[in-house]
Amino acid sequence: MLKLESVTVKFSGLVAVDNLNMEVSRSTVHSLIGPNGAGKTTVFNVISGLVRHEGRVYLDGFDLTNVPVHKRVDYGLGRSFQNVIIYKYLSVLNNLMLGYHHKLTYGLLDELLGTYKHSTLERKAMLKAIEVADLIGVKPLLGMLAGTLPYGYQKLIDIGRALMSEPKLIMLDEPAAGLTETETEMLKEKIRIIKNEGITVFLIEHDMRLVLDISDKITVLNFGKKIAEGKPEEIVHHPDVIKAYLGTSYSEVK
Ligand SMILES: Nc1ncnc2c1ncn2[C@@H]1O[C@H](COP(=O)(O)OP(=O)(O)OP(=O)(O)O)[C@@H](O)[C@H]1O
Ligand SMILES: [Mg+2]
Repeated sequence: MLKLESVTVKFSGLVAVDNLNMEVSRSTVHSLIGPNGAGKTTVFNVISGLVRHEGRVYLDGFDLTNVPVHKRVDYGLGRSFQNVIIYKYLSVLNNLMLGYHHKLTYGLLDELLGTYKHSTLERKAMLKAIEVADLIGVKPLLGMLAGTLPYGYQKLIDIGRALMSEPKLIMLDEPAAGLTETETEMLKEKIRIIKNEGITVFLIEHDMRLVLDISDKITVLNFGKKIAEGKPEEIVHHPDVIKAYLGTSYSEVK
């Protein structure tokens, strides 16, 4: 469903992504792992259209390469960022509704006059927010101020906001960072639920237990280059991955 073809990103001399070719299959959880600075977030930025790059990006066979950032959501891309962006003084409901923005086509005048168009779209956004909240299990929290929730829930709401645009593919950049063990378990369950909805999950994560548990496929980057790709059990035993990233401790996990 997602295809990267000869993608290279250079930042003033530094090659952050080096001729990367990879594909993410539909309705899978596909993880991108590797040491700090390996180029993982940069790959997500390429897909989102946030950095200049060589090579091409295809989604469902459609060439996204020259599609502007704000339009990519219309093609089915959703994303949550490495640093969680949550509006602490807005309710969970309003935080989720913000993710519907690309569909909110009414203008300021509609808003001021409280037109029919405005209220219909607001209503649709609200219904979608309730549906998403139900999916990720935060419906009872919809009326709470987002800032009062534990960090694990704030991250979940960030993911929920990305789901508001009904993406085909959702990119999650280190969703487990800073989470407690219990929160990580909850996150794992939510990712499975998202996958079961038919949404493809492209995941960057350092928590290897999480990655090994939920990934159908893993791609490993090191210094911007793909050094391995395969099923979790293949990755944990791959000598280059053990050397560059994992160490030996995980080869006994699976
Ligand atoms: N906008 C930028 N300008 C210059 N250099 C950048 C920029 N973004 C990233 N880099 C550099 O590119 C390399 C890859 O960074 P990237 O953030 O993609 O790594 P990462 O694999 O996501 O690392 P981490 O696991 O720490 O999040 C790093 O050396 C980083 O310093
Ligand atoms: Mg990163």
